[in-house]
Amino acid sequence: MSVGRRRLKLLGILMMVNFFIYVIVEVSKSSGQEKNSKRNVILPDSRFWKKYTPHKAYWNKQQQKLERLYNPVLAFLSNMTVEERLSSNGSFSNYCEADPFVASELDGFPNLPDRFKDFFHYLRCRNYSLLMDQPNKCKHKPFLLLAIKSLIPHFDRRQAIRESWGKEMKSGDMTVVRVFLLGLTPPEDHYPDLSDMLKFESETHQDILLWNYRDTFFNLTLKEVLFLKWVSSTCPDAQFIFKGDDDVFVNTHQILDYLKSLTKEKAKDLFIGDVIKDAGPHRDKKLKYYIPESIYEGSYPPYAGGGGFLYSGDLALRLTNISDQVLLYPIDDVYIGMCLQKLGLAPEKHKGFKTFDIEEKQRNNICSYTNLMLVHSRKPQEMIKIWTNLQNPHLSC
Ligand SMILES: *[C@@H]1O[C@H](CO)[C@@H](O)[C@H](O)[C@H]1NC(C)=O
Ligand SMILES: *[C@@H]1O[C@H](CO)[C@@H](O)[C@H](O)[C@H]1NC(C)=O
Ligand SMILES: *[C@@H]1O[C@H](CO)[C@@H](O)[C@H](O)[C@H]1NC(C)=O
Ligand SMILES: *[C@@H]1O[C@H](CO)[C@@H](O)[C@H](O)[C@H]1NC(C)=O
Ligand SMILES: *[C@@H]1O[C@H](CO)[C@@H](O)[C@H](O)[C@H]1NC(C)=O
Repeated sequence: MSVGRRRLKLLGILMMVNFFIYVIVEVSKSSGQEKNSKRNVILPDSRFWKKYTPHKAYWNKQQQKLERLYNPVLAFLSNMTVEERLSSNGSFSNYCEADPFVASELDGFPNLPDRFKDFFHYLRCRNYSLLMDQPNKCKHKPFLLLAIKSLIPHFDRRQAIRESWGKEMKSGDMTVVRVFLLGLTPPEDHYPDLSDMLKFESETHQDILLWNYRDTFFNLTLKEVLFLKWVSSTCPDAQFIFKGDDDVFVNTHQILDYLKSLTKEKAKDLFIGDVIKDAGPHRDKKLKYYIPESIYEGSYPPYAGGGGFLYSGDLALRLTNISDQVLLYPIDDVYIGMCLQKLGLAPEKHKGFKTFDIEEKQRNNICSYTNLMLVHSRKPQEMIKIWTNLQNPHLSC
């Protein structure tokens, strides 16, 4: 018997013992109601644990099923390991055919916008392969890995980032490295064929990661989990990771100074950004973030806006593992909030992340940028202008 198995057995036995204590308490409660008052035994008058109630909304319901598969007690009761249960239920991992059941199990499926149909047809597929890799990117343990979500046609944004805040550098024993995260922009979505130019770009700059899936807004979560898998396999020693969009300006110096000032303890669980709390799904059909009631019920956990956040490499490895237990969700930053919650963590708000920009009259004042970490949004020319001005040795703010 393996150690894991033995532990599960022990857990099971403990559960049984608990159950018998409960039965004994219940029996003595029903046979001696009057005596209780004399002996001052406090008995709960209703159920004190959460009852299992199946969710109605499709995503919640599927997530509940996934959690049951990972539940060690249920696995013990079925005399199987969690791995055995997962593989015996093939539909739960890397199922890449269009899901034939979703149309009948998701209320109102035929009337949903196409992006929802695409998303839920391929909900369980995440094993897309890398078409362009940078296997040596992290050969020298990076202090900071910059991972920028981009789209193939955004050549100018990527180049502006390379020439400004995203410069790879080495100062002392600290290295900063950069990758851009891309999916495919296929002809079915009416994109022009830019593959030759991308190939040239990748050979020239060696900073492109390209996966063979369709790059769309709802597939950004796929980009997130594929990136986390890449970190675990190819960059597991990165000390910190910044992940953000290609239309933000980042004050990399400010981020490095902040990271250097952290205590070991604080650094380990670091996850900061512009944190949104007490939010829930938008129900207005016209919004990009619209999620119908038939798909998700409940509120969102605290999450850091996807424009950019900063976290530790140690946490990235834990996020990679836990992400297997969280079903893909169409909104990528909410998804990471869900994973953090499962790890018992919450992102921390840092006022240097200005994802809703700074006051308009401050935007042309270079001194507004010296103390912030990120501001959204900036055009390529603006990025280069701000960065150049920040380098001015005579700058006094
Ligand atoms: C549980 O599984 C083990 C090995 O897979 C088997 O030997 C044993 O008979 C099973 N026990 C029950 C009660 O099914
Ligand atoms: C496997 O998945 C299907 C579809 O979600 C579900 O109906 C079934 O109960 C699952 N089986 C096990 C053993 O969990
Ligand atoms: C993912 O893995 C499954 C099962 O091994 C396989 O059938 C499928 O083709 C793979 N999908 C991709 C996109 O590689
Ligand atoms: C995500 O990518 C997969 C693989 O290319 C594709 O089949 C699916 O339609 C995409 N989903 C969305 C919502 O675009
Ligand atoms: C992630 O999971 C793998 C395989 O189960 C395990 O070896 C590794 O220690 C885990 N890493 C973390 C950081 O939890």
